Amino acid sequence: MEKTQPSSFLMVCLGNICRSPLAEGILQEKARAAGLDWKVDSAGTTSYHIGEAPHHLSQKVARINGVDISQQRARRFNADDFQRFDKIYAMAGDVLDQIRRIAGRQYDPAKVELFLNELNPGRNEDVPDPWYGPEPGYHDVYKLIDAAADKIIEKYSSNV
Ligand code: 4NP
Repeated sequence: MEKTQPSSFLMVCLGNICRSPLAEGILQEKARAAGLDWKVDSAGTTSYHIGEAPHHLSQKVARINGVDISQQRARRFNADDFQRFDKIYAMAGDVLDQIRRIAGRQYDPAKVELFLNELNPGRNEDVPDPWYGPEPGYHDVYKLIDAAADKIIEKYSSNV
């Protein structure tokens, strides 16, 4: 049991253009709607897409669902993120390995969780990477992330 409820959340994937921008936008919107004063951000473990807006299909599925992620810009995950965030969610197992490697001595296992373990505890499932596929994959990813984000709101919105 954590002593205080987390209020800052970092969503991490590889490129920070497909999955984690959706996770950031969806959780931010749900937190806002629930009246929670949360900080939500996202980052990628690779540097290929730094400074880019989210993938156009991530933007599209978000927009269809009433979430605007168009202003986000990709940045790289860094070790100091462990000082800046209470919870760090990895979208997949390979991302978790990279987070551990990049963070080095700042790695804190108590802060890190596989994102889908909030939806299906203990199953260690990955959010599939829609990057190489067509639009339906982005809709599937949206639904998964949306369901897990509901669980996060449920779990951490009870203050006192
Ligand atoms: P993301 O998808 O990690 O969900 O943003 C990817 C985007 C780009 C690449 C890999 C995954 N890439 O290798 O460029």
